[in-house]
Amino acid sequence: MITTKSIPKIKKLLGKSKRNRKIIGFVPTMGALHKGHLSLIDKAKKESNFLVVSIFINPLQFGPSEDFKKYPRNIKKDKKLLKKHGVNLLFYPQADKIYTPDFSTFVQEKEISKKLCGKSRPGHFQGVTTIVTKLFNIVEPDLSYFGQKDYQQALIIKKIVKDLNFAAKIKIAPIVREKDKLALSSRNAYLNKKERKESRAIYQALFQAKKMVKDKEKNPKKIIKEMKKIIEKKPTAKIDYIEIRKAKNLEKIRKIKGKIFIGVAVYFGKTRLIDNIIIQSKT
Ligand code: PAJ
Repeated sequence: MITTKSIPKIKKLLGKSKRNRKIIGFVPTMGALHKGHLSLIDKAKKESNFLVVSIFINPLQFGPSEDFKKYPRNIKKDKKLLKKHGVNLLFYPQADKIYTPDFSTFVQEKEISKKLCGKSRPGHFQGVTTIVTKLFNIVEPDLSYFGQKDYQQALIIKKIVKDLNFAAKIKIAPIVREKDKLALSSRNAYLNKKERKESRAIYQALFQAKKMVKDKEKNPKKIIKEMKKIIEKKPTAKIDYIEIRKAKNLEKIRKIKGKIFIGVAVYFGKTRLIDNIIIQSKT
């Protein structure tokens, strides 16, 4: 595995791979890799023949009171994992090379980004779309992989690819979960024992929703009410949002119909966790 921090070097290397007609697969990450990240990497490995992973904790996507400083960092362990999973090139840039002191250009998607997590985390998606645009310009991937765990993020990336004519094809991979069904996330490490135990309520609520849809409940409000009950029972939980939306574009719906997204954002103590399921309702 080649590791580089240098943008000119990666451009040179990848130019060569392109000339050799390789299919460049790309998985952008912020490191502290877990099985969720690795599932994207394994999928990308199968579908491409030159696999690039980036590790960059992007300051632009963290709010002023968010966890940029304490975000987990473990480059040694990450490198070992990436080697083991057959990654060809690790791009591990320095923040001052990505954002030079005179940096003044931002990429903003103005529709899907306004909803759900965009409301609770102003500026977050602009940070994500700006860094992903830069990474796509540096790596020029043919295929790039994102997790359903951050479904809104993946939809926004698909939208900027369409709107700005990027060549990359975006693939969305399923959510990898712990044994007790908590979605894997680098932020799970912040939870204390009690919070960790109570965080199971997220999936219990999503499971209840799935059951209600299967039993032909058509009113999203009724489903959300039941989900709230399950989560609010937990003393350390504080709901940010529970929403049922059209899966295609996260638009509001009055009635359960077609492919739907059921998404949850909940604080356990100070840690904000998100999760979702996507279901095709029968009618
Ligand atoms: P990060 O949180 O490191 O996640 C990198 C990728 O892994 C994202 O596409 C995310 O959806 C996926 N992922 C995380 N947990 C997952 C799980 N349990 N199952 C499946 N996939 C999972 O998302 C980011 O970084 C950043 O916003 C980034 C896109 C790198 C831009 O900075």
